[in-house]
Amino acid sequence: MTAAALTPDDEPEDEPGDEAGDEPRPGVTRSVTVRVPAKVNLALSVGPLRPDGYHDLATVFHAVGLFDEVYATEADTLSLTCNGEGAAEVPLDETNLAWRAAVLLAETTGRRAAVRLHLAKGIPVAGGMAGGSADAAGALVACDALWGTGLSRDELHALAARLGSDVPFALYGGTAIGTGRGEQIAPVLARGEFHWVFAFAHEGLSTPAVFRELDRLRAAAGEEAPAPGVDEELLRALRAGDSRLLGAALHNDLTQAATSLRPDLRATLQAGRDAGAIGTLLSGSGPTCAFLAADASGGAAVAEALSAAPSVRAVRRALGPAAGAYVL
Ligand code: C5P
Repeated sequence: MTAAALTPDDEPEDEPGDEAGDEPRPGVTRSVTVRVPAKVNLALSVGPLRPDGYHDLATVFHAVGLFDEVYATEADTLSLTCNGEGAAEVPLDETNLAWRAAVLLAETTGRRAAVRLHLAKGIPVAGGMAGGSADAAGALVACDALWGTGLSRDELHALAARLGSDVPFALYGGTAIGTGRGEQIAPVLARGEFHWVFAFAHEGLSTPAVFRELDRLRAAAGEEAPAPGVDEELLRALRAGDSRLLGAALHNDLTQAATSLRPDLRATLQAGRDAGAIGTLLSGSGPTCAFLAADASGGAAVAEALSAAPSVRAVRRALGPAAGAYVL
């Protein structure tokens, strides 16, 4: 997969028979498909609330092999449809980030936002795995290819950052440090492949509500928000490709806030630990819980145990790191 990933200054390549980027042909409806990965935050260190309503943070993003696919087909107007994981909860109007991505790209490049978008979802909705952000990144890349607007990687990054804090990372994939509100990305040296198990919850969680709960808990405890930073042990584990070291170094400052709002998440995290996971983690602002396994058979055992947990709606296994948004 990595070979297909977009890298800075790289443009998606046209495969033979790939209609993206071809000259318009009468009677042929052109279409582009982009695959975009979910993410977990291997570390999420949250600093103080800023005047703009965001928190300064330092995070290690890690893209994993759970994907949404964004289909962009030429059309006379803008429309959006969706199927797959959690599709019933996905808004299909201008509040959807993929819709907004198409509008933003059109406005920026001085053209009409005319495209039929379809989202095939594999990433849980409101699950802390940046599914909406993935759709936005996918829509940017798909419309850029369909419309032939040819934005550079830096230009796409700038638009992505305006759409949401997690959108830029979905363009890059792999493993990367995020700073600022998460939109400033620097790649991290990471070796090897990691075996993940994800436990989806019965209901989603609101990201702003979890950040607000963290502020409330800190204020109630009289704690000052620390300056955000990334643990050197975790970076060492990634450089070495050592899953046990990585499992021990996983950390998310939002865990207490999310479990305060949703106490049943504690049972999910404990069920994974009991089943032999070498690392447990709330994914982003939750409620998805992520478990690191030593190998494929360890992953199968953790997945089986979690499937029986009442607090878990569905279980998925995936490898990380995965490539960022790319044209199929
Ligand atoms: O950037 P995005 O729209 O994805 O953020 C959603 C919400 O999450 C923000 O409105 C804010 O409440 C919270 N957030 C935050 N600090 C960040 C990122 C997100 O407080 N760094």
